[in-house]
Amino acid sequence: MEMNFEALKSQVTACTACELCKTRHNVVFGDGVPNAEVMFIGEGPGEQEDLQGRPFVGRAGQLLDKMLAVIDLDRSKNIYITNMVKCRPPQNRDPLPAEQEQCIAYLRGQVAAIRPKIIVCLGRIAACRLISKDFKVTKQHGMWFEKNGVLMMGTFHPAALLRYPAQKPAAFEDFTALRDKIQEICDHTY
Ligand code: URA
Ligand code: SF4
Repeated sequence: MEMNFEALKSQVTACTACELCKTRHNVVFGDGVPNAEVMFIGEGPGEQEDLQGRPFVGRAGQLLDKMLAVIDLDRSKNIYITNMVKCRPPQNRDPLPAEQEQCIAYLRGQVAAIRPKIIVCLGRIAACRLISKDFKVTKQHGMWFEKNGVLMMGTFHPAALLRYPAQKPAAFEDFTALRDKIQEICDHTY
């Protein structure tokens, strides 16, 4: 059954279904507009996100916001951003498969409510879980995959771009391809 978005948010905010609830400061549900045609999915909250309760607000998030602005996307106007897990993994370790399994029902609820036309996976964790289990970001970034009527693309995680700036031009090509696809299939993003 599809749940009202605010009810889902309240449920997630109180969730204690996995161990990550013990070390979190805030649950990071997501940020953006409810009628978004394009959804971005990261890995999990980092330190700043955990403290502020919003996704992608630290250094990687600032880079993401700048890259989004280049193609006229803005979380306050025309997209939605969330993560595979809603609570911060300690020391920013990868979320465990069991934690992702527990949390993915909430992501499914968000996708069911928002009904995006395009989903962009930011980094390996989201792409491997949502596109294909052996997804290789360096080889398959920017490619389109259709799943249940939704077009999906995996690209570099912005934290990876901070570590390896040589990958930035390739990431910008993915964003240009995304802009073109939005112009082709979306009707109220631009
Ligand atoms: N990295 C992520 O994957 N998600 C965030 O929200 C912040 C950093
Ligand atoms: Fe619940 Fe997800 Fe947080 Fe685990 S990470 S406690 S499943 S909201």
